[in-house]
Amino acid sequence: MCGIVGYVGEQQASPLLMDSLKRLEYRGYDSAGIATLHEENITVWRSSGKLTNLQNVIAGAPMPGTVGIGHTRWATHGEPTEANAHPHRSGHLVLVHNGIIENYVELKHDLAGDGYEFQSETDSEVVAHLIHRWMAKGHGFQESVRLGLKDLAGSYAIVLLSEDAPGMLVAARAGCPLVVGLGDGDFFIASDIPAILHHTRKIIFLDDGETCTVANNQITITDLDGITREKTPTHIDWTPGMAEKEGYRHFMLKEIHEQPQVVLHTLMGRYNPEHGDAVLPDLGLNPDTIRNLTRLWLVACGTSWHSALIGKYLIETMAKLPVHVELGSEFRHRDSLLNKDDVVIGVSQSGETADTLAGTREATARGAHVIALCNSVGSTMTREADGILYTHAGPEIGVASTKAFMGQVTAFYLLALLLGRTRGAMTPEDGVAWCSHLAGIAPHIEHILATEPEIERIAGKYYRDSDALYLGRGLNFPIALEGALKLKEISYIHAEGYAAGEMKHGPIALIDRQMPVVVLAPRDHLYDKMVTAVREVKARNGLVVAIVTEGDDTIVDLADDVYRIPEVDPMFTPFLVTIPLQLLAYHIATLRGTDVDQPRNLAKSVTVE
Ligand code: AGP
Repeated sequence: MCGIVGYVGEQQASPLLMDSLKRLEYRGYDSAGIATLHEENITVWRSSGKLTNLQNVIAGAPMPGTVGIGHTRWATHGEPTEANAHPHRSGHLVLVHNGIIENYVELKHDLAGDGYEFQSETDSEVVAHLIHRWMAKGHGFQESVRLGLKDLAGSYAIVLLSEDAPGMLVAARAGCPLVVGLGDGDFFIASDIPAILHHTRKIIFLDDGETCTVANNQITITDLDGITREKTPTHIDWTPGMAEKEGYRHFMLKEIHEQPQVVLHTLMGRYNPEHGDAVLPDLGLNPDTIRNLTRLWLVACGTSWHSALIGKYLIETMAKLPVHVELGSEFRHRDSLLNKDDVVIGVSQSGETADTLAGTREATARGAHVIALCNSVGSTMTREADGILYTHAGPEIGVASTKAFMGQVTAFYLLALLLGRTRGAMTPEDGVAWCSHLAGIAPHIEHILATEPEIERIAGKYYRDSDALYLGRGLNFPIALEGALKLKEISYIHAEGYAAGEMKHGPIALIDRQMPVVVLAPRDHLYDKMVTAVREVKARNGLVVAIVTEGDDTIVDLADDVYRIPEVDPMFTPFLVTIPLQLLAYHIATLRGTDVDQPRNLAKSVTVE
């Protein structure tokens, strides 16, 4: 939800902090601030609005110091004002925080009773005063942090700096991500890897309940009781360029164009075209478990939930295994029938989504085998799971998920193959055909990307509209949901995805000349039903934008605009139908002038409930 950073080393801190915050802006961008310590004095600068506002504020102001912290905010408690921006100060110490403190109200009353005055409406400022109070009672900086954190309920990733401990940073996490980068005589602390990847690839992932102290070129990690924990750094093989725009106008467009590679990288080494089977050793599932499995649960949110719906269709069709798809935010609050004999897959790009994590943690508590289908190496979900299925999409910076979704879809095709062949529901011949189709997908995506101007032209006709309906059936019903989500979250047009068969049960009342209807009608066993849907819309003077298979000779005569995808086996159309919808949303949003990479009110990783 927010981005936090810290630096201690031999270089001037402020430019490094600002550069890292820029790389974290996708996590939240309604206010920002940094603090540096020089000659035992902490200087704090904060501003509301985007990071450029803070840049302007500190442009002429001296910010000396080789140690500092920074924050870019996605407001949860209190308006996005300068007063509510981080870092928050309490006497000689300053703090930045990501997360939500659930007991901050009672803590605030208690602190006020001890004479503390509050300058903001935030829960984060309470944490600063809480730790200050422990130091005022004579405890050391690190111990005071540990004692203060024991008083908290909720989630946090924090970094603190104190005038009483020059050259020292203390950090901690519970429920929100935090990584430590080991440089050459420098230490970098951040919410996410892209913020510090251009400095170092040696990363330590903090776990929940751990604190980290960096001082005198040393790093110490402990639990909240001060017991030291040994952590081995992970070498991250992403290049810094992977986290940059590389000439594209927006991260989102770059990431849409990276999707052929994402499919190839996610498939690489995980299937055997000759034998027609998949190789997924990190799931932690043995063949007998797979054969005896009676049901599978998929837990996810947003776009990841859409890919899970595709996973359901594929796995039930190819492996004859019942699949329950659950929204994380719903699943965590109902008494599901989940038990120890089940397998649960958490589907998440970030691996940090609070609602999804709550679902996987509930599954673990019930003894189920939990797998993380995830794009973020070392994220919380991957470190808590029994098994892992990584989508090798590389860092996804755009808030609207595109290439990560493609990686998830690819992973589900691999999973369906593994489960189908292991359970005997797919013959070797079925498997060889499945692998052949998978191997041929990337070039088809390249072909669609090369025809982007066609989609840009269509976007030019509809970007002024205020509503849109997306219709699909079968495997493409989840794609209709995903296309609508892409449009609404970056263009702010009210778009709804619907099962096409549901049109006559209500949504058809919405059809008029102002309501463009995007119809997903590739050649498959439901094509004729989609032709009927197009006719229903046209009979009510609706506008139809149809995604059809090359060679279609029916819908092309009925629709107002048509985009043709290459012919593929019907079971593989989701790979291709998705791309024009992503590009349509992108170009409509660009024409509307919205902030495509950082849409209003959103954040890349929703680490709070
Ligand atoms: C997708 O475009 C959205 N940004 C959002 O729905 C996202 O998919 C959802 O918050 C889940 O995130 P995750 O995959 O990191 O768990």
